[in-house]
Amino acid sequence: MKLNLSSMLDELGRVTDEPGRLTRTFLSPAMERAVKLVGCWLQDAGMDVKVDPVGNVIGFRKSPKPGAKTLILGSHLDTVRDAGRFDGPLGVLLPIVALYELNSRGIALPFNIEIVGFSEEEGVRFASAYLGSEGYTGRLKAGTLALRDAAGISVRDAIRQFSDQPLPKPRYRRRDVLGYVEVHIEQGPVLERENLAVGVVSAIAGQSRFKLTWTGKAGHAGTTPMALRRDAFAGAAEFALAAEQLARRTAGLVATVGSLTVAPGAANVIPGQVVHTLDVRHAQDRVRRAALLKLGRLTAQIAKKRGLKVAWQRTQDNGATDCSPGLTAQLARSVQAVQGRSLSLVSGAGHDGVVMSALAPIAMLFVRCRDGLSHHPDEYASPKDLRVALKVMIDFLEKLAGRSG
Ligand code: HGY
Ligand code: MN
Ligand code: MN
Repeated sequence: MKLNLSSMLDELGRVTDEPGRLTRTFLSPAMERAVKLVGCWLQDAGMDVKVDPVGNVIGFRKSPKPGAKTLILGSHLDTVRDAGRFDGPLGVLLPIVALYELNSRGIALPFNIEIVGFSEEEGVRFASAYLGSEGYTGRLKAGTLALRDAAGISVRDAIRQFSDQPLPKPRYRRRDVLGYVEVHIEQGPVLERENLAVGVVSAIAGQSRFKLTWTGKAGHAGTTPMALRRDAFAGAAEFALAAEQLARRTAGLVATVGSLTVAPGAANVIPGQVVHTLDVRHAQDRVRRAALLKLGRLTAQIAKKRGLKVAWQRTQDNGATDCSPGLTAQLARSVQAVQGRSLSLVSGAGHDGVVMSALAPIAMLFVRCRDGLSHHPDEYASPKDLRVALKVMIDFLEKLAGRSG
């Protein structure tokens, strides 16, 4: 039996919480099925498999070399709503196939390998990303554990419902780890424009996420004169457009209102309360922070003008994260060897490497995706590009093992 990356991605892409579209969220029934499926493939690659108390599936392959350090490879298994099948799973399944290939050639590596499928990176259920890798590295904060989902369940309770084990302690000290390498689709247009199948990542943009609550006064849509209204949705809408304008005129800044709820939510009632998310990112932290200050002042002005109250709740804040120049140079050498040319690019998307950088030097391999599209069911990476990425990973492991020039 040979492991085939494209068919594994297709099979995993059918494991969903929502029939008809791909959605897998933190500790959901589909995530448990996904963890079981990936666990079987990890075993096929000769790994010991465990699932930790926050739902990460972890494959471990000990090196025959005594006292060997560990190389960690992985990405996330959760998805956004109505997702594509590559964002996350590619970085878990590709290393499995690479290890399987090395096994079939009888190659024993002088370092331990750990492949991790993180249980939550997107932040869909609790609006806070990286719960899986934060759990894996022992960095889940009290504030994060207190966050509640739409049903009012806290992160802490969701974990307790999933496992009676205490929160995981960090599995490694920094000196025990060679590095963390993640393969991920680019989710952007650069590799396609450069006509390259793969590239390496220099840094991951900083990212802040918030929940904003606008409170006005519900009322009759037919009898309340416009001048007397305190319409929470109109205030939120004015803010969302202003945030978009600020991002459009600030190079490299992105700002997104991705989800929004209106209460009481009836056609003939003026919205009394609106809750929405805000996601702001930039490659330089000082630009992102300056933008957040401006947006804070903007909400105060809009609220005052419209007689509304506005409250901000920060749900996530990660500074820009540099990839390790040394590990990235090693990865780039394999890209060069396989593709003939390497390219280094900044990631606008967040990745588990942000959290893993606290534990180890990180490097990322980006794979071209059609039209740069992601977080969409039409997300696509070609089998040809996947083969290039697989060759790069195998070459990287062999070079790291000192088995090739
Ligand atoms: O939102 C992101 O940047 C990533 O896809 N989690
Ligand atoms: Mn994503
Ligand atoms: Mn991702």
